[in-house]
Amino acid sequence: MKIIVLNGSPKGEVSVTLQYARYLEKVNPQHTFTYENIALQIKHLENDLTAFNRVIDRVRQSDIVLWAFPLYVLSVHGNYKRFIELITERGVQDAFAGKYTATLSTSIHFYDHTAHNYMHAVCDDLNMKYVDFFSADMNDLHKEEYRRQLTLFGQRLFSAVKNNITVQKLYPPLQKRDFTYKPGNPASALQTNGRKIVILHDSKDPESNLARMVNRVKERFGGNATVVNINELNIKGDCLGCLICGSSNRCFYEGKDDYIDFYRNTVMTADILVYAAALLTASFPPAGRRSLTEFSSIHIHRYCRKSRLSY
Ligand SMILES: Cc1cc2nc3c(=O)[nH]c(=O)nc-3n(C[C@H](O)[C@H](O)[C@H](O)COP(=O)(O)O)c2cc1C
Repeated sequence: MKIIVLNGSPKGEVSVTLQYARYLEKVNPQHTFTYENIALQIKHLENDLTAFNRVIDRVRQSDIVLWAFPLYVLSVHGNYKRFIELITERGVQDAFAGKYTATLSTSIHFYDHTAHNYMHAVCDDLNMKYVDFFSADMNDLHKEEYRRQLTLFGQRLFSAVKNNITVQKLYPPLQKRDFTYKPGNPASALQTNGRKIVILHDSKDPESNLARMVNRVKERFGGNATVVNINELNIKGDCLGCLICGSSNRCFYEGKDDYIDFYRNTVMTADILVYAAALLTASFPPAGRRSLTEFSSIHIHRYCRKSRLSY
């Protein structure tokens, strides 16, 4: 069987997750594995249609698609989400439809279930045949018991495909609705009592429902809210997984773009944060350069301790 591994780590060949997929290859020499470092090469895939189509052709030629990804900020990496968006934007869902698939993650088991649920929903949306998932701790490959479990996961997957098993969708498909948001009668403004309110959104169209809702929320705060469209920030790239932040609390991009200054001066100083984004490809919020989720990650890791509010 031919299996294509779509690697969701920005670290490419040195990705921990990739080693788990390579282990599956090692214990299944009878099958052919090919690898695509999706998250690492997302800009290339966005800008070069030939490169994107080459990946999609490889998917077409495969019997199984293995979505292999690390947890980055409670979910899959933003670049992986972007690739999923591109599948729909470029209308190549047919390459995935009807293919057997499974998900494999490495993480420290912090919200790995949400990432697998999200990817399962994506597979359902793409009309794939979702068989199974394997959620490893980043160090599990060192342990014999977990290597055994990973091997069994591979066996179950190959056996499912060989026996052409029937699978069941878990998530209902996203339905696009024609809906135009019209704000109701203006209510009296809320007392903000000097609190700093920041609304972060990524609307691209000032006439969109999202933009109108953002305006409505701003009005509700009596206009005392700072509205920031993150598309207008100069954000050069996504998290590289370099972990400089882990040792020195500094980011590789510091001084190179707007992100860290914006985070420190606008996000960290807010008393109330409102995130506003449209739901695309089963995911809120959608992909973006170090997208809205990464703000929320920082809250979860340290900011919530100060009892700030975030909606
Ligand atoms: C920026 C960043 C965010 C992370 N967020 C999470 C997380 O939310 N949950 C989790 O369980 N692990 C998280 N991790 C741990 C990684 O998922 C784990 O180290 C993984 O094995 C990395 O795989 P990779 O080398 O293939 O990128 C994070 C790591 C980094 C660098």
